Amino acid sequence: MTIKENISLLPFNTFRMDVKAKIFAEYSSVEELRQLLDMYRGGKILHIGSGSNLLFTKDYDGVVLHSAMRRARCTNEDSDHVWIEADNGLVMDELIEQLCDMGISGMENLSHIPGEVGASAVQNVGAYGVEAKDVIESVRAVSLENGEERVFTNAECRYGYRDSVFKNELRGQYIITHVVYRLNKHFEPKLEYGNLQCEVGDKPTPMSVREAVVRIRRQKLPEVSELGSAGSFFKNPIVPREVYEAIAAQYERVPHFEQDGGVKIPAAWLIEQCGWKGKMLGGAQCYEKQPLVLVNRNNAAPEDIVNLAAAICKGVKEKFGIEISPEVNYI
Ligand code: EPU
Repeated sequence: MTIKENISLLPFNTFRMDVKAKIFAEYSSVEELRQLLDMYRGGKILHIGSGSNLLFTKDYDGVVLHSAMRRARCTNEDSDHVWIEADNGLVMDELIEQLCDMGISGMENLSHIPGEVGASAVQNVGAYGVEAKDVIESVRAVSLENGEERVFTNAECRYGYRDSVFKNELRGQYIITHVVYRLNKHFEPKLEYGNLQCEVGDKPTPMSVREAVVRIRRQKLPEVSELGSAGSFFKNPIVPREVYEAIAAQYERVPHFEQDGGVKIPAAWLIEQCGWKGKMLGGAQCYEKQPLVLVNRNNAAPEDIVNLAAAICKGVKEKFGIEISPEVNYI
């Protein structure tokens, strides 16, 4: 394991906030994780993945933990499925690339999402009609309180839209160390979302779908290696039907998606109507190609991002009466 004191978290968050952590510790096995938990139990602990869905608002006065476990193994198979158990610190996109290369499908629509396996199972990341929960069979986690291991089935993870039990009732209580995915040997492409079908063309393979998803994402979303961001900053709100109808009566062609319990209106559309697309506040910008994304355009301080997000939420609330909420975690 490695333990460092008073280090900059700049390389560990994709928003590129230059804040410091009092302690940063990286472990290479579950045993080392347990030792770290024994050392720091009772204090402030934050476990990060690749820092691609969080906003550090100030220096972190506690212990930041990170996993250096980065392997994946096949644990079972039958005539239709393959079960892959991946370590929490493996970059999810690296796993997806290897799987697509082997013709194993189920995760190809999640290609190019920044982040590591453990965090993606907390956040239930999703894209192009697939969410992590659709392929997660179970997760293994370690209790912060006593270091004991517990397996959570998919149902026990209580997955929702960018949501799980680990963000709610069990927040701060478990560290996911492994994720078991159930994947397919026979390819059934899921191409219903947006223009994915057109981009893929005929005779799709897991790899050709992956490549199409990467192309679409590159056109719309900033590369975190070039421009700091945390992907979508807000969740897409699901509003009561009457709210949608009132808006549809006033605007031509409101994009919307029917959902259980309401209608989903893209936050990107709401934000654009409020005039925020491309606008800057300090060094923070509402991204010009996809206003759901906030970017660190010019050495943004944490408060620039916080203030821009608050101003956008206020604008959307005033114009449409809809509360949009961040999907990014403020630390
Ligand atoms: N739109 C606008 N103006 C724009 C861009 C988009 O009005 O400038 C509207 C359009 O009507 C468009 C709709 O927003 O049809 C939806 O846009 P898009 O397909 O790009 O998806 P999204 O709802 O903005 C969600 C996820 C993304 C995921 C994409 C594709 C959330 C919060 N975001 O975005 O996830 O990649 O769908 O599946 O659900 C992330 O979580 O970090 C992320 C990037």
